Amino acid sequence: MAIKKILTEPNKILRQVSKSVEKVTKEEQLLMDDMLETMYHANGIGLAAIQIGIPKRIIVMDISKGDEKKNPMYFVNPIINNKNKELSTYEEGCLSVPNQFAEVDRPATCEVEYLDYSGAKKLLKATGLLATCIQHEMDHLEGILFIDYLSKLKKSMIIKKLSKQKKSSETLVI
Ligand code: NI
Repeated sequence: MAIKKILTEPNKILRQVSKSVEKVTKEEQLLMDDMLETMYHANGIGLAAIQIGIPKRIIVMDISKGDEKKNPMYFVNPIINNKNKELSTYEEGCLSVPNQFAEVDRPATCEVEYLDYSGAKKLLKATGLLATCIQHEMDHLEGILFIDYLSKLKKSMIIKKLSKQKKSSETLVI
């Protein structure tokens, strides 16, 4: 397993639409291992493959709390079958939008069809944080970030901040 570099906005790669996986092979499993390690290392609860530059429809998640047993989840080619009309609001963040948080409304529950780590077909009824997290991660597969749901002004302010942060970290000489 290896910790990969997480791409941050602004970055065109994050705006790509990821491609379906034909079959879950050892290659995809190794990718999922790396993604999980990268996510844990960055203290995230979800990561899509495109966030480490790989345009495959693969997501890893773990929404267990700090002192709970780890509960890694793997989603390959996830599809949302039905979204609830009822919305819930969470303050979201994203490993690709570092240190920025904002409230986003999303369907409160959803049903997700996907392939698991071994390539088996699965169906998951998600509610609460799980539902929000899976929808956030699935947005990454379409090149969508949570800041796209904010007002133009708020979004451009966040992108400006991120560009500044990037510039200063790139010019750092030690
Ligand atoms: Ni994200």
